[in-house]
Amino acid sequence: MHDIDFSKVGFSTLAIHAGAYDDKAYGAEATPIYQTSTYTFENLDEAEAVFRGEVPKYGYGRHGNPTTATLERKVAALEGAEAAAVTSSGMGAVSSVLLGELGCGDHMICADTVYGCTDKVVREYLPTFGIETTMLDTTDLEALEAAFKPNTKMVYFEAVANPTLRVTDIAAVAEIAHKHGAIVVVDNTFTPPPVCQPLKLGADLVLHSMTKYINGHGDVIAGVVAGSKARVSAIVSKCVGKLTGSELAPIASYMVIRGLKTLDIRMKVHSANAMRMAEYLEKQPYIKAVYHPTLPSNGKNYEVAKKQFREGYCTGMITFETAEYKGMSEYEVARKLIDSLQIPGLGVSLGGSDSLIQLPTAMTHAKVPVEGKKAAGITDGMVRFSVGLENVEDLIADFEQAAAKL
Ligand SMILES: Cc1ncc(COP(=O)(O)O)c(C=O)c1O
Repeated sequence: MHDIDFSKVGFSTLAIHAGAYDDKAYGAEATPIYQTSTYTFENLDEAEAVFRGEVPKYGYGRHGNPTTATLERKVAALEGAEAAAVTSSGMGAVSSVLLGELGCGDHMICADTVYGCTDKVVREYLPTFGIETTMLDTTDLEALEAAFKPNTKMVYFEAVANPTLRVTDIAAVAEIAHKHGAIVVVDNTFTPPPVCQPLKLGADLVLHSMTKYINGHGDVIAGVVAGSKARVSAIVSKCVGKLTGSELAPIASYMVIRGLKTLDIRMKVHSANAMRMAEYLEKQPYIKAVYHPTLPSNGKNYEVAKKQFREGYCTGMITFETAEYKGMSEYEVARKLIDSLQIPGLGVSLGGSDSLIQLPTAMTHAKVPVEGKKAAGITDGMVRFSVGLENVEDLIADFEQAAAKL
């Protein structure tokens, strides 16, 4: 085993070496895949001791796996957390955190712009458990302060909101929430480390859809939640390993371990490509507005991003709104543009090497009610573009040829 001081190394070194599996049997450099659903014991004495929690050994696959544990140690190191628990999807992490931390009679404050399935869980599912939610713009700190109730237990938001790219000031929200005795949960899917580390800014729990940037190759569905040992183990014992049973398969854990080794360099290129694309798109006559936190035109979002995100990094996500153009409505322009592009795939998901483009109102946020879309600012001509790792000149050329068809 190497002896590395992880408090002194950069993100790539951390991603590659932190929490690495120590293969005493064969010295394998890559993390082995422990593809097993259960574990056997020497005798009943040992089995009893393991299930009483007296001996630290794996007992059953849903409760733990060495490959998965390696991934958990790595994500914890990247987020600066004491512990992490990986889940079978990003929604597994969202639901485990909400059901693990909230109970009947509790109130939570949730950003009014969140991923469509999270919106549905909060609006439709939590009330069936007696959990009440106030949805509001978490960048409006006055509105936030006024929304607390004696039973408010949590403030939940996305560091960069899907799909409007609104940037919430994590430190400011944490200060207000903690004053009211509530915890702060940040979905950091759009800005993974090294871009942003919400726990260092005062958040209590951070979660990701690792389906996106952390894995980064568009071939795995996975999630994670990270925070203090006490909070993560409570969520694991109540939800991930038991109630929601959303443990990640060992082979998927292995794939994410492989993917996250290049997270730092990928985020640099995603950020640079997105910045170039955002600047290009802002000048096009068929586009009314471009949302990307590196654009000074994004005002408050730009200011918060500047202090909250590591210099030289941002997200690879861009959202833009089309204008009425050549007699076509905004919606018609968006449709025609999307259908004419050759490089970005038309599909949901994001954060992979391959560019993806989609229309939130019809796809990722189709189930958000009309008033919810209005509050979030999701319009018919709003296009979400996950800028991949292709050569940015090729992406620009693709938009040029698609625009010529409008
Ligand atoms: C911000 C955000 N959080 C959570 C999720 C859910 O992740 P998954 O699809 O891995 O369940 C998504 C999915 O797009 C997302 O964009």
